[in-house]
Amino acid sequence: MKYLAILGRQPEISIAELEMTDFCTDINRLGGTKKLAVKLDQKPLDYLQSLPDGKITIGVSDYSKGASRATAINEALKLKKILVRHGRSVRVIDGKAAELSTATSLYNGLSGKNTRKIELIKTDDGWYRVIGVQDIDAYAKRDQARPARDAKVGMLPPKLAQILINLCGPLKPGAIVLDPFCGTGVVLQEAILMGYHAYGTDINERMIEYSEKNLKWLVSQKSQNKQGIFQVSVGDATIYNWEKPIDAVACEGYLGKPFSNIPSEIELKEQKGECGRIILAFLKNLTEQIKAGAPVVLAAPAWLRKDGSYKRLEILDEIDKLGYNVNNKSRKGLLYHREKQVVARDILILRKK
Ligand SMILES: C[S@@+](CC[C@H](N)C(=O)[O-])C[C@H]1O[C@@H](n2cnc3c(N)ncnc32)[C@H](O)[C@@H]1O
Repeated sequence: MKYLAILGRQPEISIAELEMTDFCTDINRLGGTKKLAVKLDQKPLDYLQSLPDGKITIGVSDYSKGASRATAINEALKLKKILVRHGRSVRVIDGKAAELSTATSLYNGLSGKNTRKIELIKTDDGWYRVIGVQDIDAYAKRDQARPARDAKVGMLPPKLAQILINLCGPLKPGAIVLDPFCGTGVVLQEAILMGYHAYGTDINERMIEYSEKNLKWLVSQKSQNKQGIFQVSVGDATIYNWEKPIDAVACEGYLGKPFSNIPSEIELKEQKGECGRIILAFLKNLTEQIKAGAPVVLAAPAWLRKDGSYKRLEILDEIDKLGYNVNNKSRKGLLYHREKQVVARDILILRKK
C-alpha cells in the first residue's frame, strides 16, 4: 500500500510518500498531517464507477507540476461528464484553488468515511484517494475549551504535542510519558488521548494547578478516553527525582522570553545562554533516571534573525557528551513556526545511549 501524507504549507506544501505496512492511518493521532491518501490501483474513472449506486460527490486536489484551480476543476468535470453519460448523478466540489482546503474537504464530507463522497488527489506520480482529513474542529475545541489557559506560557498547539509524542517512536499502550516542563498540560492531555499515562512536572506551582485542572476536565469529558491516568507535581527539571519508570519524555522545554520583535544580538546571547543552560542541566539530571534507548523529544527555542533565518541553540555536542544520541542531527525540516514568528520551536529527537 502506498500512502501520501499532505503536511500543509510550511513554507510550501510538503508531501510525504510513505510505504510502511504498519503505518498509523488514524489521522487524528498524526498531528501535523492535514490529509492522508492511499494510491489508487486503478484509473480514477474506473474507481469512481465501482462505487455503490447513488449520487457521487467528488473533489479533485491537483498537486502535480503546474497545477491550478483550472486544472483541478477540469479533471473533476472530465470525470463528471463521463460518469453522467453512464447514468450517474455527480456533484463536483470546487476548491477555489488547485487543492481543496482541509475545511472544504471536511465540511463536504470528503474525509474518507463516506463511500460516495470522494476526494481524489492527482500527483505527477499518479492518483490517490483521501482516507482521512484532519478534524480541525476537534483540535480547536481541545485547545480552546480547556478551563485553564495561559497566553504567557505560550500556546503549544495540540497537534504539535502529538507530533512530539509520535516522534518518540512506537510506545506500548499505557506507556508512561513524562513532560518535565508541563506548563498548562498540552502534551499530557494529548498523551492521555493517545492512550498513554501522563506524568508532568513544572517548576511553577501555578502551572501545576493549571495542568491538574485541565486534565481533570479532559477525563471528565464524556467523549474522551476515560482510561487516562495522570500525575502532576511541582519540580525543577534540573534537579528533580522523578518516580520511575519513565518510558518516554516529550516536552516543550523552557523557551525563554516571549518576543514580538526580533531580539537584539545582546538579548539573543542572553536568551541562548539561559535556555541552553536549563535544557542541558535538565538532560544531565534526566540521563541517570531513564533506561538506555528511551526516547527524549524536546522542543527547544530558535530565534528569528533579520535575514529571515532562525538561530538555534548550539548544544548538540554537549547533548552527545551527556549520553544521548541525536537522531536528527541535521534538524532539517523540524523547525516549527508560523510565518515570521519570532520564537520558533526546534525539535530535537534524542535517545538515551
Ligand atoms: C514553554 S512552557 C511549556 C508550556 C507547555 N507546553 C504547555 O502546554 O502549557 C515552559 C515551562 O517550563 C517551565 N519551567 C521553566 N524552567 C523550569 C525548570 N527549571 N524546571 C521545570 N519547569 C521549568 C515554566 O514554568 C513553563 O511552564
